[in-house]
Amino acid sequence: MELSAGSMLDERLRLVEPIHRGDAASVWLASDVTDGNVVAVKLISPEQLVGDPVALERFAREGVATARVASRHVVRVLRHGSSRAGIPYIVMERLLGESLAARLVREGRLAPEAVAVLVTELGRGLADIHAEGIVHRDLQPSNVVCSDEGGTHVWKLLDFGVAKVTRRASAGDASAREDLTLPGKLIGSPVYLSPEQVSARPVTPMLDLWGLAVIAYQALTGKLPFDGDAPARVFTAILQTRHAPPSTLVPELPPEVDAFFLRAFHRDPAQRFASGPELAAAFGEALAPLARARAAAAAAELATAAERSGRRPGGRAPDRAARGGRSPVIAVLCAVAVGGALGLLGLVLYRRALPVEPGAAAPGTSDATTAATR
Ligand SMILES: Nc1ncnc2c1ncn2[C@@H]1O[C@H](COP(=O)(O)OP(=O)(O)O)[C@@H](O)[C@H]1O
Ligand SMILES: [Mg+2]
Repeated sequence: MELSAGSMLDERLRLVEPIHRGDAASVWLASDVTDGNVVAVKLISPEQLVGDPVALERFAREGVATARVASRHVVRVLRHGSSRAGIPYIVMERLLGESLAARLVREGRLAPEAVAVLVTELGRGLADIHAEGIVHRDLQPSNVVCSDEGGTHVWKLLDFGVAKVTRRASAGDASAREDLTLPGKLIGSPVYLSPEQVSARPVTPMLDLWGLAVIAYQALTGKLPFDGDAPARVFTAILQTRHAPPSTLVPELPPEVDAFFLRAFHRDPAQRFASGPELAAAFGEALAPLARARAAAAAAELATAAERSGRRPGGRAPDRAARGGRSPVIAVLCAVAVGGALGLLGLVLYRRALPVEPGAAAPGTSDATTAATR
């Protein structure tokens, strides 16, 4: 069946316009005629439907897996099913906003503070799906959207097309019985794959934390940590090559950020951060020296400006009345500088106080310096 704007997918959903056309699936804006709500509908592509039963089962799994996750940082699935023409679909909340992939094309890289927010929110989303026994397995910028919720921007994880349900699945759930990955066939975009995916080792939530670290590195530096001009070279890089320390790509980044990535990219999953929130807290701490340096530089700049404005054009000291007239302005500027510095410090302390998953390894216990050479 040819999908076209205006056609009814079933008795409820009228297709409005395509948002995305991928090889395996397309995403459409649709209107629910029963309540007038606008939703996003993901449909498996007709080629996959006819020729690839495994893809069909994976698509069904995407609907089931995502529907049971209730997280502010995971796209909400409203329902799933099949159209009258037999096309399986997933109905989702419609997100208003662009993907991280589109944002990176536009901006190259993001400010460190923005990356800290991204990592914190995706770390929370990962904790929520991992608590449901789901491993996403396909973290990459096109599967992350910055959703505008009435002026508040919220990062959301989507596309559970290759997710694996590792536990809590019912006996009748196909994903519990088997991994639908074909032998020797890799899933997910190669540059975001973890060493354990490349070498077909067991699937654990740790591989999503690797993916989150790749996203963080790319958002922070505008570069990929492990890359190559052919898939085999990408896989070799993932398994063996040491990534460029981020501070060599973005000089303002402190050495703490380099140390953070050594642990996040540890080839041994057990040596990585133990959960999304733990990784995010460590990332916030690694950025703290940068926040402090910026606050100090801003305060020094304000003090210099205040001193300059306190002098007369001829360079002589102003009289008492003139100084008295400016002092409230100077006081406000200094208060803003000190307030900003305290705010940044508060943010760092708040990150430190974020809850850590039970069983999390203590930060700094890994053999981080040897990580990148493994
Ligand atoms: N619920 C949604 N609301 C708005 N846009 C969406 C939604 N779901 C997906 N998209 C858009 O479609 C793109 C592809 O969606 P995705 O589920 O990743 O498809 P694929 O399986 O083809 O990779 C996303 O990058 C995003 O831009
Ligand atoms: Mg996708």
